[in-house]
Amino acid sequence: MQAMQPDENYLFTYKGFYFQPDLTSVEHLDTLDDFEIRDSDVFLFTYPKSGTVWTENILSLIYHEGHRNGMENLNILDRFLSLEYKIRNVDYVSHPSPRLFLSHLPYYLVPKGLKNRRAKVVYVVRNPKDVLVSYYHFSKIFVTLGKVEVEDFGIFMEKFLAGKVVASLWLDHVEGWFSHRDDFNILFLTYEEMKKDLRSSVLKLCNFLGKRLTEKEVDAVVDQATFDKMKADPRANFEFLPPDMIDHSKGHFLRKGTIGDWKNMMTVGQNERFESVFKERMEKLPIKFCWDINDEL
Ligand code: A3P
Repeated sequence: MQAMQPDENYLFTYKGFYFQPDLTSVEHLDTLDDFEIRDSDVFLFTYPKSGTVWTENILSLIYHEGHRNGMENLNILDRFLSLEYKIRNVDYVSHPSPRLFLSHLPYYLVPKGLKNRRAKVVYVVRNPKDVLVSYYHFSKIFVTLGKVEVEDFGIFMEKFLAGKVVASLWLDHVEGWFSHRDDFNILFLTYEEMKKDLRSSVLKLCNFLGKRLTEKEVDAVVDQATFDKMKADPRANFEFLPPDMIDHSKGHFLRKGTIGDWKNMMTVGQNERFESVFKERMEKLPIKFCWDINDEL
């Protein structure tokens, strides 16, 4: 395996994008361009901390009756195939259809077969101040990310604004996916619309995926995808992961699950600094951001 030299932030660069060194390899990343896509594949792409596990849970509930009715007891890591990180030793090629993939890759590193617009792509975006705060807390509990001590929020924010974190710069990720949306068969969802109206978001997903669920089945998906239900589920909180991956004593994966928690963390000065770096490019994005749980969408 080609050695990956982590930098001082414990990051590894491949084709201009930051990865976590210990969960992937150059050989594996090299295979992704030609990775064979099936029409029935579903890919979930996100920037980290944007509601990935939440959306994975929803997609799994939509696709797997055994998940909906509680007959199957599988954790999220076994329901989804991680494209770039080989967390589980699963053979993607022999995996039965429909395969559900999750990935944090930027648009330019995805398998080229995805650009034939047949397989379905879901992209979830969240307001970047809540992403930043969620990322900060996550790096404290996710041991491998925390190989570099992250104590101070201000220092972490500067890394985030410079894109020196796993998945690089939020702006590049989101801009890239939006500006190349015509290359893909893609549905964009926001974390905030899911939070404000989960049922409509589930219906949007079903519609896009061509899945016809009865009203009762949709109710079951919505019920099991609420924050409270997921927070109480040890599988959704990755409680099965060993302490050398997640330090459960330092916090839960499902933390607050709301819109606007950044206001509890960022000082006025930090908010101004954030805006001075992000605002101009954000205003050009075709997304109306929601910054507070009480704001209209
Ligand atoms: P917070 O840290 O703000 O609470 P990801 O899965 O991309 O890493 O995103 C994690 C974020 O999604 C966390 O945000 C987590 O609490 C939130 N989340 C997960 N499930 C959720 C749900 N059912 N409802 C609302 N937020 C959820």
